[in-house]
Amino acid sequence: MIAGFNLAKQSKQTVAGLVQKRFAHDLIVSPKTGRTIIRTGGGGRSSSNGHVVTVFGCTGFLGRYLINRLAREGAHIIVPYRDEDDMRHLKVMGDLGKIVPMEIHLRNKDSLEAAIRHSDTVYNLLGRDYETRNFSFSDIHVEAAGVIAELAQKHDIDRFIQMSSMNADVDSPSRFLSTKAEGEQLVRSIFPSATIVRPSFMYGQEDRFLARLAMSRGLSVRINGGMTKVRPVNVSDVATAMHKMLDGYNTAGETFELVGDKVYTYKELLDYIKETTNLDIGDINVPKPIASLMAKAMNLLPWQTLGADEIERMMLDDKLTGVKTFKDLEIEPSSLEITGIQYLRRFRTNLYSDEPLKKGVVGAKKVFHTSYL
Ligand SMILES: NC(=O)c1ccc[n+]([C@@H]2O[C@H](COP(=O)([O-])OP(=O)(O)OC[C@H]3O[C@@H](n4cnc5c(N)ncnc54)[C@H](OP(=O)(O)O)[C@@H]3O)[C@@H](O)[C@H]2O)c1
Repeated sequence: MIAGFNLAKQSKQTVAGLVQKRFAHDLIVSPKTGRTIIRTGGGGRSSSNGHVVTVFGCTGFLGRYLINRLAREGAHIIVPYRDEDDMRHLKVMGDLGKIVPMEIHLRNKDSLEAAIRHSDTVYNLLGRDYETRNFSFSDIHVEAAGVIAELAQKHDIDRFIQMSSMNADVDSPSRFLSTKAEGEQLVRSIFPSATIVRPSFMYGQEDRFLARLAMSRGLSVRINGGMTKVRPVNVSDVATAMHKMLDGYNTAGETFELVGDKVYTYKELLDYIKETTNLDIGDINVPKPIASLMAKAMNLLPWQTLGADEIERMMLDDKLTGVKTFKDLEIEPSSLEITGIQYLRRFRTNLYSDEPLKKGVVGAKKVFHTSYL
């Protein structure tokens, strides 16, 4: 309840012949800028949650889950894109005119500014697992993040949510992780109330984690003897958490580590995938120097493959550093063993496609009930 403001249930407004009630909780005042965010309508995609949000990196994996959540409650969303084809699926997620695509280039500051200046919230999901001829890790994770944070500060944006990564550390042997940490520091120095989000490996439909493990048949992942410990997190849970941060002003200036409910070694994950898909997954351990050499050779191919830097990441255990987690957002992370079948079923051959999970695979009963009855 906002002090001195008593809209309450008594207030009524006539909109297109309908009587619309307004409640005090329909109005939020940003503690940073004093800007008022006013919700209108019943709460669906044709109403408005009062926010204008820019989501950099929305054309990626997490982006579509986040846009979906924002659009279904009627946010106006600026969708910065490089390739028109990559953002088409996002346009239909919101009501007519609510999703506003804008072409950007990371080195064209004016294009970035145009995408930010009317917004009250900016999400920066920009990131890349590998370097390209045109963009290094540093270009995307540090320089671009810094420019966006500066522009957000210039235009007095209320909320800035910066996507980093689990294990981000300036001293990390992985350039991906060290530049993510540098990006965090730069963003914080420019926009102190930014919220930093560090997810572990995200899985879901069309992910680059479970799908890659299943596709590689285990050959490329038995690095470190498959003993690296990770805490994969469902992409839906991460999107829900990021959506909660939109009005969660108490998350400003905080860092969140978002991990799944359980720790797995890669070996355990491969065993789970084997049980779930009936794939004949091999058991060959590839020593790190050989794996790195193979990755470097594969990186000469014109299409993206496993990068050498990703091999470094596969050697690092996921370690929580004591910052905030899902618990502080009152979110219960979903279980990979229960939801995993949804994403792995497509790797089954037609012989096993409809078979229930084998006895002994955790979550088999639950999956059987939701998927087959
Ligand atoms: N997926 C994971 O398991 C995981 C784990 C930890 C952290 N993260 C971080 O979480 C964020 C979202 O992950 P994600 O899996 O959704 O990433 P993603 O699928 O790789 O998407 C990355 C986004 O960044 C954009 N981008 C990359 N390089 C760009 C450039 N040079 N210019 C303009 N746009 C560029 C991409 O645009 P285009 O579509 O135009 O390429 C895309 O929209 C990223 O920052 C990632 O590093 C992800």
